[in-house]
Amino acid sequence: MSKLINDEFKNDPRILQAKKLLAQTLSEYQDKITAVKPCDPQFQDIYQQCIDLLGKRRGRPLYFPYLASGIGNGPLVELADGSVKYDFITGIGVHYMGHSHPKILEACIDAVLEDTVMQGNLQQNIKSIELSDRLVSSACANGADLKHVFLTTSGAMANENAFKIIFNRHAPASRLLAFERCFTGRSLSTAQMTNKPEYREGMPEVLKIDYVPFFDEKDPAGSTEKAVKTLSSLIEKYPGEYAGMTFELIQGEGGYYPGEQNFFVTLMEVLKKNKIAVMIDEIQTFGRTRELFAFQTFKLDSYVDVVTIGKMTQVCATLFSPDYNPKAAILSQTFTGSTTAIYACLATLDEIQNGGYLGPAGKIEQLSNYFRVKLQNIAEKFSKKLKGPFGMGAMIGMTVFDGDLETTKIFIQELYEAGVLCFLAGKNPYRVRFLMPMAGVSKEDIDHVSRIISAVIEKLNKD
Ligand SMILES: Cc1ncc(COP(=O)(O)O)c(C=O)c1O
Repeated sequence: MSKLINDEFKNDPRILQAKKLLAQTLSEYQDKITAVKPCDPQFQDIYQQCIDLLGKRRGRPLYFPYLASGIGNGPLVELADGSVKYDFITGIGVHYMGHSHPKILEACIDAVLEDTVMQGNLQQNIKSIELSDRLVSSACANGADLKHVFLTTSGAMANENAFKIIFNRHAPASRLLAFERCFTGRSLSTAQMTNKPEYREGMPEVLKIDYVPFFDEKDPAGSTEKAVKTLSSLIEKYPGEYAGMTFELIQGEGGYYPGEQNFFVTLMEVLKKNKIAVMIDEIQTFGRTRELFAFQTFKLDSYVDVVTIGKMTQVCATLFSPDYNPKAAILSQTFTGSTTAIYACLATLDEIQNGGYLGPAGKIEQLSNYFRVKLQNIAEKFSKKLKGPFGMGAMIGMTVFDGDLETTKIFIQELYEAGVLCFLAGKNPYRVRFLMPMAGVSKEDIDHVSRIISAVIEKLNKD
């Protein structure tokens, strides 16, 4: 039987040998990255110049002066100033596999051997089909009807596509519903929905959004009742005008607030009754709870119409049911994703789905619970100086001191200096959030990071 030239090329012994050599060489150098390390004074000036130049070119400074050298070892990353830090924020949830993961290296080598850098609507290779099919079958595993998927390059664009699909299905409805404190992205329409007026300063109103209060774990019944009341009165006020409602099942940017199944089901029943689409934004939650999709963890499979994913998948996507498959040509774009992103996404899904991450005793729960207990211990040691941990699964947050912006920023900066990367979330109180590289982190790493957090709290407590 004849073979494709591509199959012969990919299996050429020289290619296989080169891949082996690259993997071995990377591993040798990774072995040198074993612990947090301060910067090397000889790189300090040039590093600062690069950071300043980047800030100048961007027109605004970086949040913290992070510039990676290009190599790391799991949760540890070498910066271009020679320092080594624990990356417990991973580009806000992108580098799930950690830094320089051998499986990602292998996937990316395979990808760069492909013929094009990017794939798009007119240019798809076999792996794009494999990925699309994998996402659909994973999403439908427990009975959801998400038979279609549209790949794209950012979370905001995945959400834009979701809004378009929903409006198209429910035309001429022109309003959307969302939760207070929600975050859906930074494009014109997603920034409109994101419940932070400062993120849309000076922008025209492009969408009509109305907000429903989110779940309050201190008052489950009361907050559910309040949310349903608000939702029902909005529907009454604008009959037939709502096309859909967006759900973040665990609020991310909003401050790591999880909801509860009963809360979501109660609201979704109202939406279904009124023929309003249920859209779930899983751009931050995907791969961070005990099931691959958080809607599966919350057992909302029978309610979902449209779901978006992104961040750790490298490729972003909008999944939707046949009922929402638009007949008009409203979905298209030049890029679906880079070839490396498509390969890396498949490698990441392989790791999660076949590597013991999912389920009540999977690595996601185990590692997250381990970190939570550590943070709990620190909270007990420094009573009132650390509150939490908050969040759910691998989305872990805490409040430091009074949770005011200034102190929280100082804490994040001090932790950065001490060798741990984390980030801000929420507002009044502000919270500190962690998104660990789940496929690269060990309990020992969490021990080290917890000791550093404890030391920084102690230092700030004295100051
Ligand atoms: C829940 C949620 N939706 C949407 C987005 C936007 O994704 P992106 O930044 O890739 O556009 C984010 C990003 O933080 C997010 O957390």
